[in-house]
Amino acid sequence: MASRTRARCRRRDGCACAHARDGPGHHRFDDLRDNILSTVSHELRTPLTSIIGFSLTLKEHGSEIADTTGAEIVGHLNEQAGKLDRLLSDLLDLDRLRHGSIRPMFRPTGVGRLASHVAANHAADGNPVAVRADSIVAAVDAPKVERIVDNLLANAVKYTPAGTEISIRVERANGGVLIAVDDRGPGVPEERREEIFDIFNRGGEGSTKTPGTGIGLSLVAQFAALHNGRVWVEENPGGGASFRVYLPAEQTASARAPR
Ligand SMILES: Nc1ncnc2c1ncn2[C@@H]1O[C@H](COP(=O)(O)OP(=O)(O)OP(=O)(O)O)[C@@H](O)[C@H]1O
Ligand SMILES: [Mg+2]
Repeated sequence: MASRTRARCRRRDGCACAHARDGPGHHRFDDLRDNILSTVSHELRTPLTSIIGFSLTLKEHGSEIADTTGAEIVGHLNEQAGKLDRLLSDLLDLDRLRHGSIRPMFRPTGVGRLASHVAANHAADGNPVAVRADSIVAAVDAPKVERIVDNLLANAVKYTPAGTEISIRVERANGGVLIAVDDRGPGVPEERREEIFDIFNRGGEGSTKTPGTGIGLSLVAQFAALHNGRVWVEENPGGGASFRVYLPAEQTASARAPR
């Protein structure tokens, strides 16, 4: 009688686990950890190298450098440190989400005002950002919605040609709030419109030349889910991508300042 044997684990590190190779749950966390280690160490290196280089220049030539050049160098240092800060926040959030230790705090928030505030932080990034925001007050977790908008705007800036317009809309829809971030970049091909929300999925050849970890959109999806909402991407009718987030958030009368 033919017997079915399970395919043995074939990890090269001598793993003797009882899971079937490629079976459900097999080394999921090991794989996640390996992915995090390789992606993050790669993404850490670039800003760290810049910080080391710029700070060394200041240390060795600080007294000879003109004020304007010094200010420029400090600006670069600040920008690179911001990238590290952002990466660290993403990792901490991933960890908290994985452990289920994020408890969203839904408070009345001016969502349009919040979006304008985040858009203003991207004003110097090289693309004009147009904001069309209804004055909506809804019960959301403001820091999470800030991260959603920030990640979508950061992507729009990163994946579209400099100078092309990005727009963000915040409007009422089906008793909740719809946030749409539209750009004029290459858009997302139909066959990739779901997978890009998976962690570490960077969606194709082109993006491998662009720095990134593939964490951003998975966080957007998980933060939307904390609100019982969802995120998806469509083709922008004018060409480019249109990322949409729907939050079925209850609308209230008074707002808390975004921060
Ligand atoms: N506005 C956009 N236009 C075109 N492609 C996009 C856009 N936003 C995201 N993508 C695609 O989706 C992929 C996943 O995006 P995600 O934000 O998760 O990761 P990332 O930008 O590569 O890295 P990071 O974690 O640093 O944000 C990107 O690598 C890119 O291929
Ligand atoms: Mg991103």
